[in-house]
Amino acid sequence: MRVTASAPAKTILTGEHFVVYDEPAVVMAIDRQVSVTVEERPGGELHVSSDLGVSGTFVGGDYRPEMGGLEARRTLEPVRIAAQTVLNTLGERRGLNITVASDIPMAVGLGSSGALAAATVAATGRLLGAGFTPREIADLPFEAERFVHVKPSGIDQTIATYGGVIVYRRSEGITPLRVEVEIPIVIGNTGIPRTTGKLVEFARGRKERFPEVIDPLITVAGQLSRSTVRALQEGDMERLGELLDINQGLLSAIGVSNEALERLVYAARGGGALGAKLTGAGGGGCMIALSTVGGREAIAAAIREAGGVPIIARKTDGGVRVWVEE
Ligand code: PMV
Repeated sequence: MRVTASAPAKTILTGEHFVVYDEPAVVMAIDRQVSVTVEERPGGELHVSSDLGVSGTFVGGDYRPEMGGLEARRTLEPVRIAAQTVLNTLGERRGLNITVASDIPMAVGLGSSGALAAATVAATGRLLGAGFTPREIADLPFEAERFVHVKPSGIDQTIATYGGVIVYRRSEGITPLRVEVEIPIVIGNTGIPRTTGKLVEFARGRKERFPEVIDPLITVAGQLSRSTVRALQEGDMERLGELLDINQGLLSAIGVSNEALERLVYAARGGGALGAKLTGAGGGGCMIALSTVGGREAIAAAIREAGGVPIIARKTDGGVRVWVEE
């Protein structure tokens, strides 16, 4: 039996960084996905291969490279951890062949590792006959996400599991939001690597140096996410776009934007976007632009012209999907 599971990427619409201080963030699943195929393999080894051109076998605590050398272990390890978590949870010892294919760019804040972990858990669980609930699929990959992100909020594998739009607040957890309208966006990738933890620390430093200035901004950012929820529920795209622009100003104020991001943000606005902002940690990585349904090509061209790599995307309501091939 072969089982495949797919899970979508995510983008943060509003509230990144401010979410660390217990304000709400609004997160949306997008139509880019990773798929993971799992089948049984004789013996107790876990063989993992990825369309990034890397593969190898995990035998106990050892890694035997096949393609991509020993360095590929870091890329494949989260898959092993997610599959092993399922085996341990079910008290099983099996060998598995795991194949990964993804069209989500990695390490730019689009939630590739969370989607990968959720899809691995869902596919492995089904292969072994476990009927995992969505909650279990969202919760089990925590170790795999910890390997990648050190201190993950859990948001990436949660949105990958449920799809759609969710509101996340540390003290309240996750609230799914019903959004009837299409949300067409263009993502612009600066191609600049960044480390989420360092940017979170930078913002924290600024808050500590200027609490009288930054604390009110944090409160305002919370209001902004609440207004965003209303705009989404009412399907008011003009308001949503303007709120994204305001959010970009707040992110600039806490010091996590940079020249490359600003360039793409202004290019997207000039290209007809209803609003644009960085998404995720900032300091590089990606920005998002809200588009009208027919406006995405022009925005993508403007982003490309400004030196970014555009990705045309939209909200997807589908979360993890699992299917079985006999
Ligand atoms: O770029 P990402 O997906 O790693 O986003 C990080 C979001 C932050 O709010 C900056 C950090 C966090 O843990 O919430």
